[in-house]
Amino acid sequence: MYSDGIFPTVNQTAHQSVLQAKGLRKVYGSRVAVDGIGFSFEEGEFIGFLGPNGAGKTTTIKMLTGLVKPTGGEITYFGKDFFANPRFAKRIIGAVPQQNNLDRDLTAYENLKLHAILYGMDRSGMSEKIGEMLTFAGLTNYRDMQVKTFSGGTMRRLVIARALLHEPGILFLDEPTVGLDPQIRRSIWEFIVKVNNLRNTTIILTTHYIEEAERLCRRVLIINDGKIIAEGRPDEMKKEIGQYVLEIYMEEGINERFFESREDAVIALRDSRYPCKVREVTLEDVFLKITGRRINV
Ligand SMILES: Nc1ncnc2c1ncn2[C@@H]1O[C@H](COP(=O)(O)OP(=O)(O)OP(=O)(O)O)[C@@H](O)[C@H]1O
Ligand SMILES: [Mg+2]
Repeated sequence: MYSDGIFPTVNQTAHQSVLQAKGLRKVYGSRVAVDGIGFSFEEGEFIGFLGPNGAGKTTTIKMLTGLVKPTGGEITYFGKDFFANPRFAKRIIGAVPQQNNLDRDLTAYENLKLHAILYGMDRSGMSEKIGEMLTFAGLTNYRDMQVKTFSGGTMRRLVIARALLHEPGILFLDEPTVGLDPQIRRSIWEFIVKVNNLRNTTIILTTHYIEEAERLCRRVLIINDGKIIAEGRPDEMKKEIGQYVLEIYMEEGINERFFESREDAVIALRDSRYPCKVREVTLEDVFLKITGRRINV
C-alpha cells in the first residue's frame, strides 16, 4: 500500500468508533442480498468492501446511508441508533452512489448549490463554501459549465465534491472508479486519499477492483453472497496464504500453488511439465482460496 510513493503516508489516529453494524440483513423476495453482516469502523479509517458483482456491496451501502430499509440488524453512528436519529446520521455522512446522479443540465456550481440548499447550509457563506470545494476538487475551471459536457472522470469528481460539501465525517463511495480509464482512475484515487489525509474523513468504499482495494484501503472486508468471508489488512490477508503464486496452465484450466518465497516458486516452475508463471499474491487469490472462484470473471 502506498508503496510507490505516490500516495502520502496516512497519519491516522484511529480511536473513536464512528460506525457499527450488527446482524445487518436485507432480503428482496426470496433473494438474500445481505446476510447478517457486522463491523465496527473507527474515525479516519480507510475501509474497502471488496466483492464480485451481486455480492451485496451496494445494498450494504444503501442500508448504511438510509436509502434502503434493512430487513434486520442494527446500525449505530457514534453510538446512536441510526433509525432513531436519522437526521443526526445523515448530517455526518456523505454518499457517492454507484451511478452518477447529477443534474446534467445544471452547472457544477448549481449542482453543489442544490445540495447545499437540501442540506440546509447557511446561505450567507454558501457561495464561498462551494467555491472552496470546487478548488479542493480541482474543478474551478468547470464551475459554470453544464455537467452534460463533462468527461466521466470530471463528473465523478463533482459527485465526490458534492458529497463532501456539508463536511461529513464519513464518506461512502460505491464503486468510485468504474468505467474510468487508468489515468483518470489514479487521479480519483489521489483525490480520495487527499480527503482521508487532510480532513481525516473516514472513507468506506466498495469495489470489485483488486488493485483499488489493495492500494487504497487500510482494511478490507471481502464480501461474497451477502456475507463477509474475510477481513483484515490487505498485506496480512495475503501473507496468510503465501507470498508468491505459481500459475500452472493445464488443459482443464489454471491451477494455482502458493509459496512463501519466490525461489521456492521458481524451483516448482522448473519442475513443472506445464507452462507456468510466477507472480505475487493478490487479494484475488485470497478470494479464490476461500470461495473457489474469482472476483472478476
Ligand atoms: N431492488 C432490488 N430488488 C431485488 N433484488 C435486488 C435489488 N437490489 C439488489 N438486488 C439483488 O441483491 C443482490 C446484491 O446486489 P447489490 O447491488 O447489493 O450487489 P453489488 O455487490 O453492489 O454488485 P455490483 O458489483 O454489480 O454493483 C443481487 O443478487 C441483486 O440482484
Ligand atoms: Mg454495486
